[in-house]
Amino acid sequence: MRQFNTAGPSVAADHYCVDPLTRFNLDEIISLIDSKRYFVLHAPRQTGKTTCLMALMKYLNKQGRYRVIYANIEAAQTARNDVSHGLRTVCSQVASSLQMHLGDVVTANAWLKIFNDYGHNAALMQLLKIWTQADPAHPTILFLDEIDALIGDTLVSVLRQLRSGYADRPDNFPVTVILCGVRDVRDYRIHTSSGEIITGGSAFNVKAESLRLGNFSQVDVRELFGQHTLETGQQFEEKVFDLLWKDTEGQPWLVNALGQELCFKMAEGKDRTRIIDAELYQQARERLIQSRATHLDQLVDKLQGEMGGEMGEMGTFMQLCVSYETHNCMNVPPTYWPFRKSAYPTISGI
Ligand SMILES: Nc1ncnc2c1ncn2[C@@H]1O[C@H](COP(=O)(O)OP(=O)(O)OP(=O)(O)O)[C@@H](O)[C@H]1O
Ligand SMILES: [Mg+2]
Repeated sequence: MRQFNTAGPSVAADHYCVDPLTRFNLDEIISLIDSKRYFVLHAPRQTGKTTCLMALMKYLNKQGRYRVIYANIEAAQTARNDVSHGLRTVCSQVASSLQMHLGDVVTANAWLKIFNDYGHNAALMQLLKIWTQADPAHPTILFLDEIDALIGDTLVSVLRQLRSGYADRPDNFPVTVILCGVRDVRDYRIHTSSGEIITGGSAFNVKAESLRLGNFSQVDVRELFGQHTLETGQQFEEKVFDLLWKDTEGQPWLVNALGQELCFKMAEGKDRTRIIDAELYQQARERLIQSRATHLDQLVDKLQGEMGGEMGEMGTFMQLCVSYETHNCMNVPPTYWPFRKSAYPTISGI
């Protein structure tokens, strides 16, 4: 039985799901790929970026013209300015994706030798070259998710290796690289270990476009809840959709969290003969707020991690900014952070 998803990327077999390929302009993306462009896909936290990239990878691989892999390089975050450690992690993630998504065991197994032979400042470039050269009839495409989890010299090295290989595409380097994260690459201010500040735009000046993923539309929300009705027979009162939209403005995780609370957590809502009405909706909304939306707190933790565990030393003011930024990053409408608003009254003027 499918449910609303409240943790991690959505998978249509397990979760009610808005078709991820309808959430962006597929024709535009295909046209960027066909013209061998590198670009950025960015959106606030919990918007569906990973879900969309996974679906796009599967779609393109099924079409068969390109060989596409998705790699999440978040694990390289802890390397900070240690380029060797960071690039080792990035290369091993790419290798594991080659094996997992394309069954390319030969290239995947070669990564460590490539790393040892070429060193950290060229290993990623060489790995992508060797992968691409293995089958010239099928150009390669790389999706790098959580790119902005990297910082400092590690981020600079990844961006520069991609930029160096760019001129060698399509026969010797991926035709398209999509960098995915919360921010646009041009907004990165990268602090290197030598004290230099490099902007993302200069380290990666081959980017052609920045695409931004938005929230669900009202049609998407109805489609999602409609799947529940179709599969269980349970109906929703019309007013529920008005309230849901007013509260969430289509923020994908919140929409799902409310759906899950209403239809799978509350005893009354679990009764499929019970029509979900405005009163039950208000109860679900309160329950979610009262649960202190642990998820939001986890996101604060995640952001703390992105700042390299420096929260402890940062002082209260910065911590407040970080909390504020998390909510902004997630695009959560103010309704859903009253507990924070009262806890942190001083942030209203930031
Ligand atoms: N296509 C979809 N249909 C239904 N719900 C979705 C869809 N895509 C995303 N969601 C909702 O958004 C949540 C987050 O999805 P996903 O992990 O893909 O987002 P993200 O932008 O990659 O998040 P993060 O920034 O934390 O990596 C899911 O748990 C689900 O609640
Ligand atoms: Mg993600």
